[in-house]
Amino acid sequence: MRVSLARHGANPLRSTSGKGNFTLRPGIAQPSKWHQQRSLNTSTSSGPSVKDPVIFSGIQPTGVPHLGNYLGALRQWVKLQDEASPGTKLLFSIVDLHALTVPQDAKQLRAWRREAFATLLAVGLDPKRSTIFYQSSVPAHTELMWILSTVASMGYLSRMTQWKSKLQLPEDASLDDSEARAQLRLGLFSYPVLQAADILIHRATHVPVGEDQRQHLEFSRYTANSFNHLYGNIFPIPEAHISPAKRVMSLKEPTSKMSKSHPDPKSRILLTDSASEIQKKVKVALTDSEAKISYDPTNRPGVSNLIEILSHFEGVSCQEIASEYESASLRSLKEHVGVRIADSLKDIRERYGQIMGDRGGYLDDVAREGGEAAQASADLTMKKVKKAMGL
Ligand code: AMP
Ligand code: TRP
Repeated sequence: MRVSLARHGANPLRSTSGKGNFTLRPGIAQPSKWHQQRSLNTSTSSGPSVKDPVIFSGIQPTGVPHLGNYLGALRQWVKLQDEASPGTKLLFSIVDLHALTVPQDAKQLRAWRREAFATLLAVGLDPKRSTIFYQSSVPAHTELMWILSTVASMGYLSRMTQWKSKLQLPEDASLDDSEARAQLRLGLFSYPVLQAADILIHRATHVPVGEDQRQHLEFSRYTANSFNHLYGNIFPIPEAHISPAKRVMSLKEPTSKMSKSHPDPKSRILLTDSASEIQKKVKVALTDSEAKISYDPTNRPGVSNLIEILSHFEGVSCQEIASEYESASLRSLKEHVGVRIADSLKDIRERYGQIMGDRGGYLDDVAREGGEAAQASADLTMKKVKKAMGL
């Protein structure tokens, strides 16, 4: 059963500054506002017909989320939450079981899980509106994974790119290569099956992710169709909802995406970085030696990445920014980008500090209640699945 956290009185996001008991997180839509928003399309080409949208997404706890995670995913999650119609179900998960597909240190992982959870609250996900939970607290995710693995295509999985990039193998590597076979573990290979289970166990209709997840979403759709074909129309076919910030690039290697795993910490801006850390990182971002500013992602990836980041915060096109800065110095562009990012992340960083500093058990309470709500949602699907399969 879902219990309201309000009664715990432990919400560190509640101000006690004397200005009343208001929530510090800005921009949360009130129920009346939800009605005014455009609704998500729930008619899919196949799969059962669905009345209300179900939004699901996940993030791995492999370090504090960075600007790429924020612009490519988290900011969209909050937007979808704030604009959702009242019937929309929203679930967001810290996918800690996925993190185990590469070796992890237990102590480190424990810390990262909490940090990632606190970040979801800090960016503006509201536990009263969204179910936020650790994947490992809901066993039905792995239960459905087993079931889906009985219909998942090995050929399809072997063509997917993530296991190859994680093992630093070439994109055309296959299971025929002895090196690939020696290194590959079943968990990493079947990562997309668990991801499909995450989505399908909640019968999600929309999955907001960054561009790099498109292939995984296609696999989920394919697997849902395969299951439906064999056992009946159980799963809606989930749609990827790709953020306008498709790929935020590394500050040090602007032809690769910003990632948690790049060895140089200056390649990424963390949501918990201070204003001065952010400004320093932008200042030393790799650009080129051309005198003028222009937007040309192919030939000038470094400067174009900074322009793109700015455009995501200012809601102005890259071309407009480029022409505004045409005769300005690179230094002034960098200064502006640094200040803009720092200003935009300031509230998130502050709330993150409050949540992590809270000793009243707020985060654990939200995680427990989220886990219970997610389990209840998953149980409904498992009942249908088991019945359809004769279990
Ligand atoms: P991960 O950290 O791999 O679990 O990613 C969480 C979410 O952030 C996913 O939806 C990714 O698509 C998105 N994401 C990760 N890195 C980037 C990036 N550099 N640019 C845009 N989106 C990203
Ligand atoms: N693979 C995703 C990533 O690395 C994380 C993820 C796991 C996910 N399960 C999911 C995303 C389900 C969306 C839906 O970013």
